[in-house]
Amino acid sequence: MKYLSLIIALFALINPALALEIKLPAETSMYPANANPAYVTTLQKCLICHSADYALYQPHLSEKEWFKITEKMRLSFKAPITQQEASQIAAYLFQAQQDRVRPARQK
Ligand code: HEC
Repeated sequence: MKYLSLIIALFALINPALALEIKLPAETSMYPANANPAYVTTLQKCLICHSADYALYQPHLSEKEWFKITEKMRLSFKAPITQQEASQIAAYLFQAQQDRVRPARQK
């Protein structure tokens, strides 16, 4: 009994099929790339506390509504961005959401 774990470990070494394999799901939630320079700011500042899901799951918002959200991140949750960056990120988020929904709307 004393050597049971050793035997199991040796067996696992000999038989790789017993080795535990953990496959993580692919990371699919990401801010979509576009030419807006605030895209990079968004990657740098908006992934500090939570995933992009929070933004990607929002309903269609106007740029003003996106600005309310980025300002909430800045003022209530202390996201390290200036008010100007909050405004630029809001413009990027609005544009990115438009790019995503436009193909569906054209149908
Ligand atoms: C300092 C941490 C922090 C940073 C940085 C941050 N957030 Fe948040 N965010 C939060 C918290 C906390 C919540 C609220 C979570 C909850 O209600 O459960 C949240 C919620 C959200 C939501 C959900 C809607 C809402 O109004 O609550 C969106 C969208 C969002 N964040 C977008 C952003 C964007 C865009 C940025 C980049 C400007 C950003 N966040 C940066 C902390 C942060």
